[in-house]
Amino acid sequence: MPGPDEATMMRWLRDIFYDVFLNLTNNAAVRSAALRSGTELRAHMNVVIAKRKNETPSGTPPDDVLGRLLGLEGEANPWLDDDTVRRNLSGLIVGAVETTSKLVTLALQELLRRPAVLQAARAAALEGDIEKVRRYAYEAGRFNPQTPMVFRFCPAEKELAAGTARARRIPAGTTMVLGTLSAMFDPEGFVSPGEFRIDREVEYLHFGFGMHRCFGYLINGVQIPELVAAFLRLPGLRRVPGRAGCVKYEGPFPEGMLVEFD
Ligand code: HEM
Repeated sequence: MPGPDEATMMRWLRDIFYDVFLNLTNNAAVRSAALRSGTELRAHMNVVIAKRKNETPSGTPPDDVLGRLLGLEGEANPWLDDDTVRRNLSGLIVGAVETTSKLVTLALQELLRRPAVLQAARAAALEGDIEKVRRYAYEAGRFNPQTPMVFRFCPAEKELAAGTARARRIPAGTTMVLGTLSAMFDPEGFVSPGEFRIDREVEYLHFGFGMHRCFGYLINGVQIPELVAAFLRLPGLRRVPGRAGCVKYEGPFPEGMLVEFD
């Protein structure tokens, strides 16, 4: 889904992400920016989708996600219309960008704090061992998480962990905050939680767990380490001293982190 230009697309996605996922106090300015950006993104996507359909009247759409979704429209899937395609794709692009940039930034920041770990991760990147880099990135993310918690609304009364000593009754209408950060330091799941280890076989909770686990879960296992590896391969990678080398934020979003290399 190309944008009109990168800056506009980034603005739209950030505004919408902020309101949908992080506007915990229902801040009115955050809400109105998201509504404005949502209206603009919708109009833009409608044009892109219409253009794509006109470009391929003979029914051989380009082999990308948009093309494949449009290719599924028709009698076999009467529920799938252009609006469904647009809503589906906009969910994917909104979910993909800020999360990826934040996880990569925070994982790198953590690796840069640990010189010996950084060297080992760099060796893995230089060897092209992307699975190993993924282990470094996900473990670094445990200490500096993109997702320290997830929220749930419980519409009907429910008992969690029924029949165990941890059983908890959740009354209807409860908003719950689930600490994925603290769960990733629970020694029952993460042995020696204070140690930086890349040999953990237990599943990290960076992407949630269960029914609503991140749709990008498998993509992340490739794109996150590839992005981190691109930095690690830079010779002598280090943070810029002082405040300049800290992560700069716009609200909850990293806007930049200055690093140096030789
Ligand atoms: C290509 C990249 C990505 C795409 C397309 C994507 C898309 C999505 C979508 C559609 C959902 C909603 C799933 C549902 O409610 O059923 C989701 C959930 C989530 N994603 Fe991603 N995402 C991406 C990358 C990431 C990254 C890099 C992170 C970093 C931590 C992340 C963290 C999460 C979390 C925490 C949830 C919520 C899980 C929950 O509520 O239990 N996502 N993602």
